[in-house]
Amino acid sequence: MVPSPSLKRLSYLLLQPLTLLSLSKPASALHDAFDVREASIESVHNALFTGITTCREIVSAFIARIEEFNPAINAVISLNHDALSIADHLDERIASGNVTGPLFCIPVLLKDNYDAVGTNTTGAALALANNKPKEDAPTVAALRNAGAIILGKTNLHEMALEGLSVSSLGGQTKNPFDLTRTPGGSSGGTGAAITANFAIFGTGTDTVNSLRSPASAGSLFSFRPTRGLISRAGVIPVSFTQDTVGAMARNLNDLTVALTIMSSVGFEPNDNTTASISPEVQHKDYSASLYGGSLKGLRFGVLNGFFNHTPSPETTPVNDIMSSIISDLTSAGATVINITDPIYNTLTLATLDVQIYEFRQQLDAYLARPSLTDATSPQPNTFEELYQTPSQNFLVIPAQYQYLRSAFTSSTSNTTYLQNLHGIQNLINTLETTFTTNNLDAIVYPEQKNLVVKIGSPSQAGRNGILAALTGRPVINIPAGFSSSTASAPSGIPVGMEILGRKWTEGKLLNIAKHISELIGPVRRMPPFANGTVERQEYESVPVIRPDRKVEGVYPVGVF
Ligand SMILES: *[C@@H]1O[C@H](CO)[C@@H](O)[C@H](O)[C@H]1NC(C)=O
Ligand SMILES: *[C@@H]1O[C@H](CO)[C@@H](O)[C@H](O)[C@H]1NC(C)=O
Ligand SMILES: *[C@@H]1O[C@H](CO)[C@@H](O)[C@H](O)[C@H]1NC(C)=O
Ligand SMILES: *[C@@H]1O[C@H](CO)[C@@H](O)[C@H](O)[C@H]1NC(C)=O
Ligand SMILES: *[C@@H]1O[C@H](CO)[C@@H](O)[C@H](O)[C@H]1NC(C)=O
Ligand SMILES: *[C@@H]1O[C@H](CO)[C@@H](O)[C@H](O)[C@H]1NC(C)=O
Repeated sequence: MVPSPSLKRLSYLLLQPLTLLSLSKPASALHDAFDVREASIESVHNALFTGITTCREIVSAFIARIEEFNPAINAVISLNHDALSIADHLDERIASGNVTGPLFCIPVLLKDNYDAVGTNTTGAALALANNKPKEDAPTVAALRNAGAIILGKTNLHEMALEGLSVSSLGGQTKNPFDLTRTPGGSSGGTGAAITANFAIFGTGTDTVNSLRSPASAGSLFSFRPTRGLISRAGVIPVSFTQDTVGAMARNLNDLTVALTIMSSVGFEPNDNTTASISPEVQHKDYSASLYGGSLKGLRFGVLNGFFNHTPSPETTPVNDIMSSIISDLTSAGATVINITDPIYNTLTLATLDVQIYEFRQQLDAYLARPSLTDATSPQPNTFEELYQTPSQNFLVIPAQYQYLRSAFTSSTSNTTYLQNLHGIQNLINTLETTFTTNNLDAIVYPEQKNLVVKIGSPSQAGRNGILAALTGRPVINIPAGFSSSTASAPSGIPVGMEILGRKWTEGKLLNIAKHISELIGPVRRMPPFANGTVERQEYESVPVIRPDRKVEGVYPVGVF
């Protein structure tokens, strides 16, 4: 199984133009492990299609890196045991000239609330450890059809209900830039894994903040799509109104490909919000969105209420980074408008959150779907059964007790639910008016008013995700800067900025993200602890990852 410099590969190599060879490694280095640090779809494909490496070696290099660095950050919960055999199959296809799909041999990690055949969908709850899906989520099927290799699953804040990324199955995920801090959440395992270079990109979900908070805290790009653009079927739900699926990546090109493939699912009957997709973005290829355009003449709103103006070591770095970007935007010929309408206040907006009324019904519907679980490995089939399993099988942090008790007795029949839906419609109208009266192209604000919180904090305070969550408007998060170096964060702590637009304007937002990123210069850094090479490994099979479940002393386990 171990690849050797077969005649076929050598002759393939010799056929390549000299320019390609000189850009790549010398032929004598054919057996070095593929260096996955900051690898991209393009760099994997260059190495693969010039014969420098094989798909098996690419997958092995990522697995070796996960084995080496995962124990420090606890981001990956499980690996896909089929990954190496899929890689071998793709190598055979290269040999026979049958290479198709924009994600050919691209290793991808999935948040562990996505159904992917061959892996269990656990929501990072021990109580769901045996939840074995029969079918891929449509987005997962689209990734596989495009050639992606599902490398494994990542930790999340249990059931995606908070932003600290701690769970009964996966324990606490740590921030790769500062091991004393959380990685944001709830998709914190994906954020930590992608920033530590465990895969090319990863998926997440977002009910209020969860695709943006880990990207912000991990110096990554992410998208939260327009509600209805991408089917949420086959993903453990929280809220029909607020849930979205999306991806995180280290660079915009890779994020753009992830968006193109995930949104290629289009209308999908198991998620009726996809019936609303605007014809102009049906099966759109977003790669062209990154070209052309400029910031000159664009108009940006900045939400004054989405800042914490009280100076402190946790808030000042965020405010300074945002001020610097705002002045850069003005220098580049854009107009920046201070939006002071008091409706844009996260505490006010949070009163419209409807997840508590939808969660139980949504989860019951998900757990009732056909799965492969048999009588020998029973699993909870309802919300009620889940939270009645032996208490060590799930983790509820104290701040969530009231939430879950309330979710248990609440439903879409509560009168407040209908009032909130009405309030959300008013908010959507207000936001439209803000765009129209100020003639805005986009609205910008920091993802979080303060640096990502320390491990042991009661909640991920200060996040600004609620506006997009309620209105279903799209956002791109970009790396905006870093706080100063400290003992626990030698290269500083990442800060992210959200760029929010009108419905179906993902392409425009990507173009703006590209220009702002070029304007402010390269921001992203690698987490210093993981900036090292990993020895080449030869695997016969995919090793078992054992997450560190120790959360005692941080949160009481199962006392709900
Ligand atoms: C290429 O590979 C795919 C996936 O295995 C297969 O479905 C297809 O038939 C192959 N095409 C050719 C021309 O062999
Ligand atoms: C997945 O669930 C099945 C039962 O449905 C169980 O046998 C298997 O051990 C689980 N896999 C893991 C990695 O826990
Ligand atoms: C869409 O699906 C949701 C939940 O699955 C359901 O509550 C709602 O009634 C459906 N809406 C329409 C218009 O069919
Ligand atoms: C925006 O306006 C508010 C209220 O007048 C003010 O306190 C704040 O400093 C302004 N922000 C900027 C960036 O000018
Ligand atoms: C919804 O209504 C039920 C039954 O009246 C009540 O117990 C519950 O607290 C309500 N939920 C909320 C969030 O108001
Ligand atoms: C890795 O560390 C070296 C030495 O500290 C530094 O020069 C390099 O820029 C780092 N690489 C990345 C991608 O951050």
